Amino acid sequence: MNNFIFENRTKVYFGEGCVKEYLACLVKSCETVMFAYGGGSIKKNGVYDEVTGILQKAGKRIVEFSGIMANPTYAKVQEGAALARKESVDMILGVGGGSVMDCCKAVSLAARYDGDIWEDFWARPGVIEAEPLPLGVIVTVAGTGSECNGGAVITNEQKKVKTGRDYPKLNPRFALMDPTYTYSVPVRQMVSGGFDILSHIMETYFSEPNTDNVSDDIMEALMRSVIRNLRAAIQNPRDYTARSNLMWDSTMGENRLIKMGKKCDFQCHNMEHQLGAYTDCNHGCGLAVLHPVYYRHIYKDGLPKFVRFAQNVWGIARRGQTDEELALAGVEALADFVQEIGLPTTLQELGVTDRTMLREIADSCAISAGSYRKMSHEEILEIFSECFA
Ligand code: NZQ
Ligand code: ZN
Repeated sequence: MNNFIFENRTKVYFGEGCVKEYLACLVKSCETVMFAYGGGSIKKNGVYDEVTGILQKAGKRIVEFSGIMANPTYAKVQEGAALARKESVDMILGVGGGSVMDCCKAVSLAARYDGDIWEDFWARPGVIEAEPLPLGVIVTVAGTGSECNGGAVITNEQKKVKTGRDYPKLNPRFALMDPTYTYSVPVRQMVSGGFDILSHIMETYFSEPNTDNVSDDIMEALMRSVIRNLRAAIQNPRDYTARSNLMWDSTMGENRLIKMGKKCDFQCHNMEHQLGAYTDCNHGCGLAVLHPVYYRHIYKDGLPKFVRFAQNVWGIARRGQTDEELALAGVEALADFVQEIGLPTTLQELGVTDRTMLREIADSCAISAGSYRKMSHEEILEIFSECFA
């Protein structure tokens, strides 16, 4: 294994009823809570009433910050930071998915920083001295794992850049995770989030080292769990076992644990983020289009791991195939799964209809140093073109 330092300071409260049981206690030390959420799903499924009821009963002053969009923008971050300063907020409570959690992390930092936060944090990642506002989150959809990391993926619309990084100071102080809160997630979003989980694990699994390491073993178990439980949740969206497994798979995928000792790739994420910056496409859906095509490009460069993937994740037995044939069968099993769960397989289905944009988007993608084969912008354009229709 490669050398590493591990830390994760987020305290997790997991399971049905956890918000009712613990929220009041977790906000005890603050007076003014910024209650942040997205486009309103929490008003339809009862979560809004539950959370405001608890905060009111605890005597908190509530400042609402709503309308956080999927793929949160830098403009929305600035709006939140200005509100937090004006209202002297002393804690942010983000209730939602990755977009709400990421926006809240960004607000928590921007509200406490006097310089140009885009330039000093997202554009030129370095160490920021400001201590972010305390942040707690209540997760309503499984996918990003944002609840237990320091990632704040933000879209700068003017600069046409969507980016983020794992900054430990941005880990939420606490995460409340009630799997029943995810029952109301529409199937399309549930499978998109499910594929995002799988993607985080694959992006880590398909990278050096290939020698025996416990992270790869954990990841194989996690990938099997995501596939099995996603199928079960599609059959029955109120299957508590499936929803709770998916919720914890999601955290495990992005709480740094499986990345220990691994180089990590994340080239597909780099490509998807720029597609998102230009077209505002859905994150998990974009990944579903890209992954099989990207892996058809690189599987020969990471052959032993792709063979393991076919055998240990998809259960494909060797029956006289060469390593290359077996590895490719694993990639095709992944492509079949994308179709089975109803995710898009082309950029056109994703809503990217203008082929002439692809060159500029490809050129804007960051190049990963952890890929089994380092991409060029030319090859990224090839991948986009193969994905197009
Ligand atoms: O906005 P509302 O009305 O709440 O609706 C949301 C939104 O439309 C809906 N939803 C969430 N919980 C629901 C629900 N609908 C019904 N019932 C519920 N319980 O789901 C839609 C999508 O929400 P969003 O938060 O955008 O989804 P997701 O969790 O997939 O987050 C995506 C964002 O996270 C970033 C992505 O790039 C994207 O911007 N990522 C963050 C990462 C991180 N911080 O570690 C890593 C990821 O790789 C990713 O880049
Ligand atoms: Zn992701």
